Parts: sequence; C-alpha cells; structure tokens
Amino acid sequence: MKLAPSILSADFARLLEDVKKVENAGCEYLHIDVMDGHFVPNITIGPLVVKALKKENINMVFDVHLMIENPDNYIDEFVNSGADLITVHEEACTHLHRTLQNIKSKGVKAGVSLNPATPIENIYYVLEELDMVLIMSVNPGFGGQSFIEPMLEKIKKLKQIIDEKGLDIDIQVDGGIKPNNIKRVKEAGANIFVAGSAIFNGNIDDSVKKLRDELK
Ligand code: DX5
Ligand code: ZN
Repeated sequence: MKLAPSILSADFARLLEDVKKVENAGCEYLHIDVMDGHFVPNITIGPLVVKALKKENINMVFDVHLMIENPDNYIDEFVNSGADLITVHEEACTHLHRTLQNIKSKGVKAGVSLNPATPIENIYYVLEELDMVLIMSVNPGFGGQSFIEPMLEKIKKLKQIIDEKGLDIDIQVDGGIKPNNIKRVKEAGANIFVAGSAIFNGNIDDSVKKLRDELK
C-alpha cells in the first residue's frame, strides 16, 4: 500500500520543504498534477518543476499525471525531466496503444487514467501494456473535491478483471481521498492512494499517519 501526496495542494512558495516533509513521512510516490487549461480548466506546472525537484535527490517515485491534450508532444520532455511513471488520460489519446508504447520505450513506467464517466472497457485492449491504471474519483482539474462514491464499484470491477487476466498492474485512485474513505478504497482493490488536501492542508506528519493508520 503506497501513498502518493499530490503537490497540487502543497505551498508552491515552499515546494521543496513540503516535498521533503512527505518524503520524511515515508510517502512512496510524489504525485505531480500537470494541467494545461484545455483538457481541464486549470493550469498548473510543467516539466521545469519536475526537473528542479529531481535535482534534489528525492527518494520517491516521480509520478507524473498528465491532464493535458496531445500528451505525445510532451512525453520526451517529462522523461528528460526525471519522470519515473507517466500517466496519460484515455480521453486525451487518439492512439492510446501507441502512446503507451512510446512511454515504455523511453524506459519509464506507463499508466492510463480514466475520468469518472469513462468506462473500464475503453482500456480493455491495452491492459497488457500498462504498469498502472489511475481511477479518477473526482472530475480532474482541482484539489479539494468530494470523492464520487460509485467509483468504488469501478475499482472493484477493474481489480477483478486484472486478477482474472493474471496481470501485475497497480491501481491508483485520485481525488477526495480522506481518512474516512481510504480503507474502503483499499478494500475495493486499490494499492496506490493519491491525497492532496488531506495531506498538505494541516500538519503533514499527522495527516500521513492518519491515512496510514487506516490502511493497517
Ligand atoms: C485532481 C488531481 C488530484 C488532486 C487531488 O485533478 O488529479 O491529484 O490534486 O487532490 P485532493 O486529494 O485534494 O482531492
Ligand atoms: Zn492527480
């Protein structure tokens, strides 16, 4: 079970300090939300920030969540900036299989993300290419939104398909994860939990501990 703090809710004026805090608290993934103002309404950060953090020898998986149109145009730049795992949105990829193969050919892990309204069936034929599926449990674009409950069923169904096929694919869940629902998300079959506001809005050590206690 792995925690992936989303730096979207960090203090950008003290980004490195906040990242060090989640690293020291034992979080395994650093979730970096890249938004372009087209695929989602918000604009956030790009490869320069990934590169700047990578130079700081942070011992976490650099988990880049691309909420952008035309992700193919930016794969090389994120790879060169230090991404360890790149997740693209199914809804943004015209040739998803080709995009995933492109990511993997650069030696980084490949994930695909599904918006709440996108059915699992859309990725059925690319499962063999995947290291991770990211189930969005909010509509992407902003931190601090409420968890969409029917996503628990979606996670269960995905877990069942992965197990039936005997595949080794992580299930990451992103959006509205809090101490009061993380256990149910785990029981549904997820193993990587993104949390932004639940970790950065308050004392980071306490917040990480609260989430971790629920996963025991
Ligand atoms: C939403 C982003 C999430 C977000 C999570 O578009 O992909 O990673 O930052 O934030 P919380 O945990 O506050 O919902
Ligand atoms: Zn995200």
